[in-house]
Amino acid sequence: MKFHKVFLTFTLILFFNSLVQSQENYTPSQENLMAREWFQNAKFGMFIHWGVYSILGDGEWVMNNQNISIENYAKLPGFFNPIKYNAEEWVKMAKDAGMKYITITSRHHDGFSMFDTHATDYDIVDQTPYGKDVLKQLADACHKEGIKLFFYYSLLDWHRDDYYPRGRTGNGIEGRGTGDWNNYIAFMKAQLTELLTNYGEISGIWFDGHWDQKEWDGKKFGKLKVDWHYDELYKLIHDLQPQCLIGNNHHLAPIEGEDFQMFEKDLPGKNTTGFGTSADDVGQLPYEVCETINNSWGFNLQDNKHKSFEDLVHYIVKSAGYGSNLLLNVGPMPNGEIQKEHKEALKNMGEWMRKNGETIYGTKIGPIPPSDSMASTQKGKTVYVHLLSQSDEVVFLRDFGKDVKHINLYQKQQPLKHKITTYGLFIEVPKAEMDAVDTIIEINLR
Ligand code: GLC
Repeated sequence: MKFHKVFLTFTLILFFNSLVQSQENYTPSQENLMAREWFQNAKFGMFIHWGVYSILGDGEWVMNNQNISIENYAKLPGFFNPIKYNAEEWVKMAKDAGMKYITITSRHHDGFSMFDTHATDYDIVDQTPYGKDVLKQLADACHKEGIKLFFYYSLLDWHRDDYYPRGRTGNGIEGRGTGDWNNYIAFMKAQLTELLTNYGEISGIWFDGHWDQKEWDGKKFGKLKVDWHYDELYKLIHDLQPQCLIGNNHHLAPIEGEDFQMFEKDLPGKNTTGFGTSADDVGQLPYEVCETINNSWGFNLQDNKHKSFEDLVHYIVKSAGYGSNLLLNVGPMPNGEIQKEHKEALKNMGEWMRKNGETIYGTKIGPIPPSDSMASTQKGKTVYVHLLSQSDEVVFLRDFGKDVKHINLYQKQQPLKHKITTYGLFIEVPKAEMDAVDTIIEINLR
């Protein structure tokens, strides 16, 4: 009986492993390990969702959500002419916001390539009046400004016939054909080779869409229907650029061959969205939380739910409190400009990061776990406690004390009265000295 159970578990594990193929025996190169360390210290990046969908101002899922046929959607590239696009401006905007890297959509679920690819002619150079490779311009600007560049790459494709069997999304789109999955894998390999050959150093590939091929009964996911050939895709990437970090938004525990783990619209392990990564699946690789400024990834004309400055500061502080980066999204408009509300948000974040970045960049998880009222980070012997909703003049940190050398109010570099007891540490923060958004206490340890 017992043996049967063990045997069954073993075969099940083998079965699922055979469906999610990993890059087996992956040993990250020295360059890759250094890149991971850089990534962990970077803490803040810009996510950019930009494609022909931006024209419709209804997010990047518009093809699926409005059930736009293949034929009608293919008219969009003809209207895409971003005359205000200025890659240098975007990169400088990211840099001024305190961001260290940019992750941009090279091809999203709509299947349209925003770069000069020879694997298809459904791309920006062949189909739009603009006719230029926007990723090349961005790559040049990033390299010039010392901002690292990552490419988002969709595994799922609503346009190609060879994305077959189809997944659970995009099934209301008329005009989709049938084809051979192996051709699709070959197509992705050809594109990834281009992306990792023609744009200089690429710091990461951000895969998305894995979940499209999972069986779904309306309530929960079942097994995977296809083989994504991750063993081959991941190996190809690492062979072409060993330092290139691979992440996959599959919402699972990391698969061998990956170099960082991302959490979509959630802090690591929280899964408040219900479709995210569960606490059990939080692994040991560097973390990245991604979030939008309003509620949309791609440009959405009607989405005015912009997060406040306070919300954004609290989110980066909490992310850092989990040891994670924050990848904050903008969805540029079809003319190539970033909407003014988001420019404003980035500017404010930049100001805050210039003053307080020391408590975020290069830090590790602090001793006090993040909550709605507090988060902490640590760099060497310095702990930064961020008070996110403090009104009481006394802060109590349970079981904390013994090693304390001195305590300062970070923003003013002035000493704070405190008392070490057997229960923990009591710190006095005068009301007048509190910051409306985040009061930072610096604790120097012995
Ligand atoms: C989801 C969405 C996709 C978006 C991504 C960003 O996977 O499908 O549109 O690009 O999240 O995290």
